Amino acid sequence: MPGSPALSYRAKALKPSLTLEIAARAKALQGEGRNICSLSAGEPDFDTPEFIVEAARRALLDGYTRYGPAGGDPELRAAVAEKLSRENGLATKPNEVMITNGGKQAIYNLFQVLLNPGDQVLIPAPFWLSYPEIAALAGADVVTVPSSAADGFVLDLAQLEASITPKSRLLVLNTPGNPTGRVMAKDELLSLADVLRRHPQMLVMSDEIYEYLLAEGHSHHSLAALAPDLKDRCFTVNGFAKGWAMTGWRLGYLAGHADVIRAAAALQSQSTSNVCSFAQRGALAAIQGSRQCVQDMAGSYNGRRKLLVSGLQAMDGITLVPPQGAFYAFPQLPDHITDSMEFCRRALDVEGLAVVPGAAFGDGRCIRLSCAVSRETISDGLERLSRVLQNW
Ligand SMILES: Cc1ncc(COP(=O)(O)O)c(C=O)c1O
Repeated sequence: MPGSPALSYRAKALKPSLTLEIAARAKALQGEGRNICSLSAGEPDFDTPEFIVEAARRALLDGYTRYGPAGGDPELRAAVAEKLSRENGLATKPNEVMITNGGKQAIYNLFQVLLNPGDQVLIPAPFWLSYPEIAALAGADVVTVPSSAADGFVLDLAQLEASITPKSRLLVLNTPGNPTGRVMAKDELLSLADVLRRHPQMLVMSDEIYEYLLAEGHSHHSLAALAPDLKDRCFTVNGFAKGWAMTGWRLGYLAGHADVIRAAAALQSQSTSNVCSFAQRGALAAIQGSRQCVQDMAGSYNGRRKLLVSGLQAMDGITLVPPQGAFYAFPQLPDHITDSMEFCRRALDVEGLAVVPGAAFGDGRCIRLSCAVSRETISDGLERLSRVLQNW
């Protein structure tokens, strides 16, 4: 037998998504008849609202079955530009928007067209696990700016500024954040804008995919709306997956300087071409429709997030920074448990509890739990977690 073909250095360096892997392992164990409780989901447990499904169905019948412009359906680009201008305070034109296969491809496209080998991408930790991998695929070096549960997962601006070098090119922001659920406050963003003004070579990617999922008392702000002088340096990533429960549709968008959008659309034209034509018509209905469905789902996560938070806060040795948005909690394990991977492996094997190790997000002392599951599943998960902790 000849050996398998040698893989490229990019493929060898790539880590597959651990969250998808854990969800798949939990499903496989379930398939074998094990009683599994999964709090590992990174996606809404709702079905896509019916009016959106209906719009895509109608589009199929109306012949939206052919290739379209690589940058996206012109009506959808215009609707996204209008939404960013009106809801986010980011004055945006349609040629400053492109439609992508999920928020993930928006990030991939952006990194590919902005970054050169050796450029540094600054990523506040804990971070969503795909950022470093997508940066590495662009040949960039990742510099993490750590924060911890002890300091409330607040980005230390002095530490951020101390990390900036002449090679630093891009800062990644994610608010509300995955995995911590932290929402950056207005004052914090204003202070961050001052740091960025002192470093004109720095660009910013702002991933706002959880913008609608906010705990009571918190509001979402886009950096460039608070600092319009930085608008040309800021790129917005967003999508339909989390707010509208459309993960499988693969619909996202990238917004920013028209020249960069043109380059990213050219890249897309040579890789995946346009996003599925009729799916884009569903997204158009979503973005032009009432936000009532989004608010209803957000309200439901709020109730379930409270249940998760109060259960975790009642556990001995757990340090929890209460999440302010998204649908996760990211508790720190007791001091004597230092390896989140080993903890999650044992939780799954012994108690049938699927949760995600914080090591995947740059903090090996924490675990990530999702509240995008039923209240019963949350309660069951909390009981199993409590048993794992007691028996450690
Ligand atoms: C912070 C963050 N950004 C982007 C994405 C990508 O979303 P999608 O590609 O499904 O639109 C996710 C998905 O989990 C996420 O958590």
